Amino acid sequence: MINVLFAAQADRWEKYEHPLHTAFADLGLKVDLRTDHAPDTVDYIVYAPNSDVQDFTPFTRCKAVLNLWAGVENVVGNHTLTQPLARMVDPGMTRGMIEWVTGHALRHHLGMDRHIRDQNGQWHNYIPPLAQDRRVTILGLGELGTACAQAIAGLGFPVTGWSRSAKKIDGITCLHGADGLKTAMERADILVLLLPKTPATENTLNGETLKFLPTGAFIINPGRGPLIDDDALLAVLDTGHVAHATLDVFRIEPLPPEHPFWAHPRVTVTPHIASETRPVTSAQVIAENVRRGEAGEDFLYLVDRKAGY
Ligand SMILES: NC(=O)c1ccc[n+]([C@@H]2O[C@H](COP(=O)([O-])OP(=O)(O)OC[C@H]3O[C@@H](n4cnc5c(N)ncnc54)[C@H](OP(=O)(O)O)[C@@H]3O)[C@@H](O)[C@H]2O)c1
Repeated sequence: MINVLFAAQADRWEKYEHPLHTAFADLGLKVDLRTDHAPDTVDYIVYAPNSDVQDFTPFTRCKAVLNLWAGVENVVGNHTLTQPLARMVDPGMTRGMIEWVTGHALRHHLGMDRHIRDQNGQWHNYIPPLAQDRRVTILGLGELGTACAQAIAGLGFPVTGWSRSAKKIDGITCLHGADGLKTAMERADILVLLLPKTPATENTLNGETLKFLPTGAFIINPGRGPLIDDDALLAVLDTGHVAHATLDVFRIEPLPPEHPFWAHPRVTVTPHIASETRPVTSAQVIAENVRRGEAGEDFLYLVDRKAGY
């Protein structure tokens, strides 16, 4: 019997218990899945960083911690964690992110607000450019950034992506490094942030880099709040250099009611809903990693603890 501890907030258990049982059974794994195993009997932890488990020391025989979230910034620096840490790469979450990013990019591209908000009896026939004439840049070309880049390129937008290491992706102009960032931002009529939060990515958008954006650019941030210096963003929104920012993630969540983003006419706030981990598809990923652990194979989606993602 393989002992798997489900360590996440209570409401998650209801959603994940059945899909996890099904996914383990589908792979022929005999698993005792619970929320309360004795720590020294646990083989794997299915983990959300906001769970009660913050000290991994008592989990002496645990073979891996399998994160339910794509972002690992709240666990990667935990010094009690000596076991391998896998982050979540979930086909369901990827689909959700493609839909959210594409939807918000098209809102800005088509100028939908003019028609949705301005029902004022005036017949202004604004014609948006075709996608081929609107450049999109995606910062972060990992699982989510690449999937969004390909979907957006599939609609006809010229897409540039930026990552830490050099990449080659069909149909996408790939850049990296500091010079690459400047060029990527200069081409960003629409800028999408899908970077992880690490010490190196904090304030990627700051007073200096925001100036690289073309006038009238749109920013869409489903990555993490600290990727942006909030005051620097507010400054370029106030001048109109940046036309609008659609923000799903913030330095403090929930975003405090007094934060200026809420009332700013050029900001759309969404409450960290760009894409959730989906129970059925993510349970299959977790089960596959448990199968690998038991077979002595490499785990999927291991976090590089030094790089922080
Ligand atoms: N809002 C939501 O609902 C939601 C949902 C899921 C995820 N997210 C966020 O989305 C992020 C991305 O997820 P993912 O699965 O796509 O992550 P990922 O596969 O780990 O990809 C991260 C990308 O960022 C690049 N990167 C990292 N550090 C960099 C640096 N210093 N300079 C330039 N590029 C850098 C990586 O470059 P390399 O390719 O060279 O390694 C990689 O391309 C997550 O970390 C999380 O914060 C948000």
